Amino acid sequence: MNTKTKNLMQVCRLLEDNASTDQKWRPKFHLSPRTGWMNDPNGLCRFNRVYHIFFQYSPYNTCPGTNFWGHFTTKDFISYEYRKPALCVDEKFDCHGVYSGSAIAEDGKMYLFYTGNVKLCGKDYDYVTGGREHNTVIAVSEDGIVFPEKQMLMDNSDYPESCTCHVRDPKVFKLDGVYYMVLGARRIDDTGEVLVFESKDKYEWKHINTLNSKEKFGFMWECPDLFELDGQWFLSVSPQGVEAEGYKYNNVYQSGYFPLSGDFRGDYTLGEFTELDRGFDFYAPQSFEDENGRRIQIGWLGLPDLDGYYENPTHDMGWMHMLTCPRELFRKGEKLYQYPVKELNALRRECTERNVTGEAVISDADIFDMETYKINSQDIEIIIREDCRISYGNKLLTLEFGAAGRGRKSRSVQLESLDSLRILADASSVEIFANGGEEVFSSRYYPEENQKGAIIRAENVNTKLWKMNSFNITDLSK
Ligand code: FRU
Repeated sequence: MNTKTKNLMQVCRLLEDNASTDQKWRPKFHLSPRTGWMNDPNGLCRFNRVYHIFFQYSPYNTCPGTNFWGHFTTKDFISYEYRKPALCVDEKFDCHGVYSGSAIAEDGKMYLFYTGNVKLCGKDYDYVTGGREHNTVIAVSEDGIVFPEKQMLMDNSDYPESCTCHVRDPKVFKLDGVYYMVLGARRIDDTGEVLVFESKDKYEWKHINTLNSKEKFGFMWECPDLFELDGQWFLSVSPQGVEAEGYKYNNVYQSGYFPLSGDFRGDYTLGEFTELDRGFDFYAPQSFEDENGRRIQIGWLGLPDLDGYYENPTHDMGWMHMLTCPRELFRKGEKLYQYPVKELNALRRECTERNVTGEAVISDADIFDMETYKINSQDIEIIIREDCRISYGNKLLTLEFGAAGRGRKSRSVQLESLDSLRILADASSVEIFANGGEEVFSSRYYPEENQKGAIIRAENVNTKLWKMNSFNITDLSK
């Protein structure tokens, strides 16, 4: 480790040692930054029987600015280790940000691919068509913990001329012995698209195709992911610049997927874009396949550029944002369902089970996992911690907040029928899975400590509520 890297790691350590101890709104069974700012999950993989979850991290303050890849490891999604940051801004080619990327674990090594962000000094730059470098970089590790070797693989001159300087977030996968990389791009004509590169050795890359929608869909596609699930290919992207359309696309930026038919390396067609999440806070998800063939996805339970939308008051406590729970993806036709990985069930403590007719107070817990079945598409209302209301009626599933939403008001999705709801309620978040993950809402909200419990209003539904244990996080960063 060179002196610059050592110094940066030490500064990070110092900031973490002096982090606020205010636990109000700290998630108990989700991952959040010790101090400062967290955004996208990165480098998700399983290596030597351990899951690695990296994330965009700036311990300096609660504003975006990615100076590190923070790092958690886990064997079971319940007990975690907090590690030293894996990457930091210590090279000319990544001096203004070790931006998002992915991992490949093979042959006893872990390979991270990420975007080195560089902002050149100069008054005349708009940082879209000039003044910015987005370099594609590889970092290699023998143990998945320390990444001594970094090498720049591509710079902006290796991307098509039709692209602006915004080309980032490499997601790499292997298929039939060949490596493929997808990169999110903003074209000069302000259209978002995904570039596909191919390599035999992970070091020499060739642009072989470009994936775009027939009609313009936003100006930039961030954080692409391309995978096959149960015989169907999906291209997942986080587009910016998509206008709201009724209940759709209501957040500042979106995240969702196109089913892809044909061959992503040649002739292909993208189907209709579907949002992955209907809540207020979901962005930049990434997925990976584990050794049992499960496709697991984690998202950022947050969004950038929220000024004028809604607030996150943990800013005053010196930390911002968290990750979603890990979710297994399932395919139903051309649709993706998402459901919390089964490992999370091990956090469940005592259970309250009820058959409800009329109104029932189910619990006074503050963090819990709640399942409601046999809804039979009736009108139903569930109130979480007094200020979060989930309701179904007229084929519309709605999430609403009062003051605790800090500006978050209402989001809905049209849903033909409703059979079940699962709600994961942590200290300042809810994740709602309807019909086993057909529709999902992920949101932050900020209830006071005396606002607790769950109330249901319905006719003859069954409900189970488990109080939840906290994650156990061991500090191995020293
Ligand atoms: C998405 C994103 C990525 C970028 C990273 C920087 O939230 O903007 O496109 O790599 O965050 O932190």
